[in-house]
Amino acid sequence: MSEFDYRDGILHAEGVAIPEIAAAVGTPFYCYSSAALTRRYLEFTGAFDGQDVMVCYSVKANSNLAVIRTLAALGSGADVVSEGELRRALAAGIPPERIVFSGVGKTRGELAFALDRGIYRINVESEPELAVIGELAAGRRVEIGIRVNPDVDAKTHEKISTGRAENKFGIDIGRARDIFARARALPGIRPVSVAVHIGSQLTDLAPMRTAFTNVAELVQALRADGNTIDSIDLGGGLGIRYDGETPPAAGAYAAMVMETAGNLGCRLIFEPGRSLVGNSGILVTSVIYEKTGEARRFVIVDAAMNDLIRPALYEAYHRVDPVMQPAPDAALSPADIVGPICETGDTFARGRDLPAVRPDDLLAFASAGAYGAVMASTYNTRLLVPEVLVNGNAFAVVRRRPGYDELLKLDSLAEWQQSV
Ligand code: LLP
Repeated sequence: MSEFDYRDGILHAEGVAIPEIAAAVGTPFYCYSSAALTRRYLEFTGAFDGQDVMVCYSVKANSNLAVIRTLAALGSGADVVSEGELRRALAAGIPPERIVFSGVGKTRGELAFALDRGIYRINVESEPELAVIGELAAGRRVEIGIRVNPDVDAKTHEKISTGRAENKFGIDIGRARDIFARARALPGIRPVSVAVHIGSQLTDLAPMRTAFTNVAELVQALRADGNTIDSIDLGGGLGIRYDGETPPAAGAYAAMVMETAGNLGCRLIFEPGRSLVGNSGILVTSVIYEKTGEARRFVIVDAAMNDLIRPALYEAYHRVDPVMQPAPDAALSPADIVGPICETGDTFARGRDLPAVRPDDLLAFASAGAYGAVMASTYNTRLLVPEVLVNGNAFAVVRRRPGYDELLKLDSLAEWQQSV
């Protein structure tokens, strides 16, 4: 079932026709479905029904305030990795006691900000960070988690794999008992949780099973050492279908979690990102030109790698759907779908079967709700694209397209250039 589907031959987001939004806001734009976000959040939480579970949506996947608010209204917490994300989560209405803060390079200022707001948990990723929190904790009582690196290969794209010893994340699992002892010795600090996250877009449960089993063993050892461990944070990482993958369903994931880590009497914290928002959004673009070169057919669209960088950065696949459904007997021919940016990497897709297209025809990139708008830049002085949230038959612009003036105003001339 998809909230993005054809009705009468026209791609809709829930009850709203995509061309209607395009006419109102112009292209390109991101479009998210409230019903899809809600359904996926409830699928995830429903799989853990009756357990002591805290779901902290990983805001980095899509940090639009309206998206966070949609999940906050369902009871979601937030996983944040910067002061900016923490501010977004709070602004969207997530209470501090439902916020966890991860990241290898939290600055002293960010840590102080988080402690002042009284967030639920900071997951510490190194000894120097522990020392800084120890200083900041003076006069307070701070419960922390320690993120461990279990040295497990998550079998995903190397740029989004985080749980091998050569990755920068967490503290080697073999050193965790020592670090917990050091943390406990710091006045004001109570290490009460173990955190782990081995990578993203995982389509196989086996590596997670290994990592969670290792974490469960560690919890037993830490308790034997005299630590009070009240929770474990199992991160995010559950994959989605981009191109025929068969990622585990929430139920299978939950069963594996309960088998490996369900009998510790710990609260289970999760940080799902992509699995909640990835297939809850699309990027809509217009055809500017079509040109047929010596070797290839190019469809040049008005979105570019600065708007959706995943294909350029990870060779990621995003399905391309014509917004007007092609007739069943329409002739298809392979095309490269490219943006206007001045580099060859600005290629969304190669050799995709597409019907004939004309300028202004609309195309939609599927599965663009996660790591799409949040990774956009203004490269080539292109404006950040708007974001639209659909709810039933209604839609709202939840991030407007900025003006060129706003963008240019961020720069200024040096004082010695003013007179020129
Ligand atoms: N928790 C931690 C500590 C993380 O580092 C991440 C993602 C998550 C949770 C959420 O993971 P998810 O459920 O979304 O897999 N830009 C890349 C993905 C980077 C993921 C970074 N960390 C992409 O477009 O594929």
